[in-house]
Amino acid sequence: MNVLVTGGAGYIGSHAVRHLRAAGAHVVVADNLKQGHRAAVPPDVPFYQVDLRQTETLREILASQRIDSVMHFAALACVPESVTEPLRYYSNNVGGTLCLLEAMRATGVCKMVFSSTCAVIGVPSVLPIVETSPREPINPYGWTKLVIEQVLRDWSTADPEFGSVALRYFNVAGCAADGSLGEDHDPETHLIPILLQVALGQRSHVTLFGNDYPTPDGTCIRDYVHVDDLCEAHVRVLKAMQPGKSAVYNVGIGRGYSVQEVLEAARQVTGHLIPAQFGPRRPGDPPVLFADARQLMTELSWKPKFTDIRPIIETAWRWFRSHPAGYVD
Ligand SMILES: NC(=O)c1ccc[n+]([C@@H]2O[C@H](COP(=O)([O-])OP(=O)(O)OC[C@H]3O[C@@H](n4cnc5c(N)ncnc54)[C@H](O)[C@@H]3O)[C@@H](O)[C@H]2O)c1
Repeated sequence: MNVLVTGGAGYIGSHAVRHLRAAGAHVVVADNLKQGHRAAVPPDVPFYQVDLRQTETLREILASQRIDSVMHFAALACVPESVTEPLRYYSNNVGGTLCLLEAMRATGVCKMVFSSTCAVIGVPSVLPIVETSPREPINPYGWTKLVIEQVLRDWSTADPEFGSVALRYFNVAGCAADGSLGEDHDPETHLIPILLQVALGQRSHVTLFGNDYPTPDGTCIRDYVHVDDLCEAHVRVLKAMQPGKSAVYNVGIGRGYSVQEVLEAARQVTGHLIPAQFGPRRPGDPPVLFADARQLMTELSWKPKFTDIRPIIETAWRWFRSHPAGYVD
C-alpha cells in the first residue's frame, strides 16, 4: 500500500500515519500546515507542504510517490466558524476535495477513505443514528461533508475502478497511548482538551453550553470514539475496499456520555477540581448524538478497544501533561 494522507500533520491524520506504517504501508503526507504541525509527522515520512487546491502539485506527488490510495483527512472542521465563513469552508472542503479527486483521476489513483462526520445527519429524529438516517445538516461544515459523500458515490457509479469509503466519525477523543502524539488545535473547541487545559492551569474554568437539555443531567450527550480505534477502522476499510463500490460507515462506540459525565471523569483522571460554569445553549447543538456502528463491526469485524470515557481521557491527559505547550514548531 502506498498511501497519501492528506491532513497528516493534524490530530487524527498524524495518528493514522502511525497506524498505516504499523500495517506496513509506505506513507506520504500532504498538509498546508494551516492547522497541522510539522512535528506531528515523523522525519522519515515524505512530507509536502501543499494545499489541496494545488492540483498540479498533487498530481506530481501522486505520480512520483506511486500512490495507490488516499486517506483524506484535510478539512476545516470548526462548526461555528463554518457558519460565519461558509465560502471558506466550501472552498477548502468541497473545492479542495474536488481538486484532490481530479489529481487522483489524472494519475489513476482509485481508492479513497474520506473523513465524514455525524454532522451530515443534523438533528436525528431516531437514536442511535444509523447510516441510513435522514441527512439534514444544520451547518455549512456538515453540508461540505455531505456534498463530498455524494461526489464519491457518483464517481463510483461512473467509474468501475473507483472505490471509496466515507467514515462518519462522532466525537473523536484521546491520544496515542504512549503520549507522543496528541491534539493541538488553535483555537481549541473540543470538550476534553479544554477540560485538560483547565487542569493544567492554562484556563481558569470551562464553560458548559446548556444545562436544560432533555437529558438526565440536562447537558448534551455525545459518543466519544478513541482516535486509535478510529484509525484502526481506517486501515481496515482501506484493506477491504472494493473497486466500483462506495460505502458509508458510522464510527462510534454506540453509547453516549453527557458533558457533565465527561467533566466528572476528567476531574477523576486529573485530580483537579476543573471549575465549570454553565453558559447558554449553542445554536444547533442537538441534545443527544450517538452511533449505531454495528455495520462496521459486522462487515469489517471492527471492535473498539476503548468503550469507556475514563481511559480515553487518561490517554489525552498523558499527552497534555507531557506537552503543555502542544507541538513545538
Ligand atoms: N476531531 C473530530 O472529533 C472530528 C469529528 C468528525 C470528523 N472529523 C474530520 O476528521 C478530519 C480530521 O480532523 P482533525 O480533528 O484531525 O482536524 P485537524 O485540524 O487537526 O487536521 C486537519 C489537517 O488538515 C490540514 N488542512 C486543512 N485544509 C487543508 C487544505 N486545503 N490543504 C492541505 N491541508 C489542509 C490542516 O492543516 C490540518 O493539519 C477532518 O476532515 C474533520 O472534518 C473530525
